[in-house]
Amino acid sequence: MRVLVTGATGFIGSRLVPTLKRRGHDVAVLTRDADSYDGEADTVYEGDVLEAGSFEHALDGVDAAYYLIHSMDTSDDFAEKDRRGAHHFQRAASDAGVDRVLYLSGLGDDRAALSKHLKSRREVEHILGEGTFDLTTLRAAVIIGSGNTSFDIVEQLATRLPVMLTPQWVRVDCQPVAVTDVVAYLVGALESSEAAGKTYDVGGEEVLTYGDLLERTADAADSNAFIVPVPVLTPRLSAYWVALVTDVPTSIALPLIRGLKNEVVVRDDSIRDDVPIELTAHGTAIERALGSSSDPEATADHAVEKLDRIGL
Ligand SMILES: NC(=O)c1ccc[n+]([C@@H]2O[C@H](COP(=O)([O-])OP(=O)(O)OC[C@H]3O[C@@H](n4cnc5c(N)ncnc54)[C@H](OP(=O)(O)O)[C@@H]3O)[C@@H](O)[C@H]2O)c1
Repeated sequence: MRVLVTGATGFIGSRLVPTLKRRGHDVAVLTRDADSYDGEADTVYEGDVLEAGSFEHALDGVDAAYYLIHSMDTSDDFAEKDRRGAHHFQRAASDAGVDRVLYLSGLGDDRAALSKHLKSRREVEHILGEGTFDLTTLRAAVIIGSGNTSFDIVEQLATRLPVMLTPQWVRVDCQPVAVTDVVAYLVGALESSEAAGKTYDVGGEEVLTYGDLLERTADAADSNAFIVPVPVLTPRLSAYWVALVTDVPTSIALPLIRGLKNEVVVRDDSIRDDVPIELTAHGTAIERALGSSSDPEATADHAVEKLDRIGL
């Protein structure tokens, strides 16, 4: 299949491209800076989804496209940018006659008061859903892998100080998932006609609290850090604390931390019927993320093995 991957330089996209290549697809990518792209794609297009007219050529002759773009690292108006980019992309993919679009969104119950970040992910789903193509949406919580900002925060909090000061969100449930499993699901959903037009929740084998995830990461890294939940710690103060302890700036940490109040667990596991890959144990995923075995090449190898095993 001729497949376009947007966000190909990002955490997910950089792992998805080598996986699609190993599965025999013809892969094109879209980036805002083609000169700096050093991945395995067959064709590299330069363009910016925020600028209508700059990226549409990348969709010519494409059967399916992955939408893996967000603007959270830029500024406070990420929701407006993500809305605009999604509208532009949806219209362009519809005009180009693309059959399928696959989007990676965030987990979270629609009935809960979702954070601005999670609401924005949901809004992009709705905008893409207005296209003429079949949209497949995968919704994930924390993705365990090196180089993922959310996991970097967990790892650095768990390893840099002997004491972790955390607000009450340490007791909120989440269902982390290994990056290999997310990539295998994304490719499996492309290759399974059953997945066209569906929305899936994706998660790992176990529901944990954020505190459990911090503790397991600390254990795997041989750190003796222990968690001290503090009764009053606002999201903004937490973000300042994260920025002080980790490499992640306040502007990026804040929307992520605001999302931690929302329980993010799988409610509908129908992806297990359509793409029944073997899930990676959390311990293995954390060990790989702390070492180098969740890099793009290793992730692609593991994802392809999983897909081969289910005969897709
Ligand atoms: N990471 C997670 O834990 C997680 C969890 C759930 C859902 N998701 C979703 O998965 C998707 C991918 O996340 P990620 O972590 O891989 O993101 P990432 O590493 O931050 O990468 C973002 C990508 O977006 C591209 N991009 C940003 N603005 C663009 C624009 N205006 N035009 C074209 N490309 C643009 C960037 O490409 P260039 O800089 O090369 O242009 C970059 O490759 C996002 O929708 C995210 O919300 C992620």
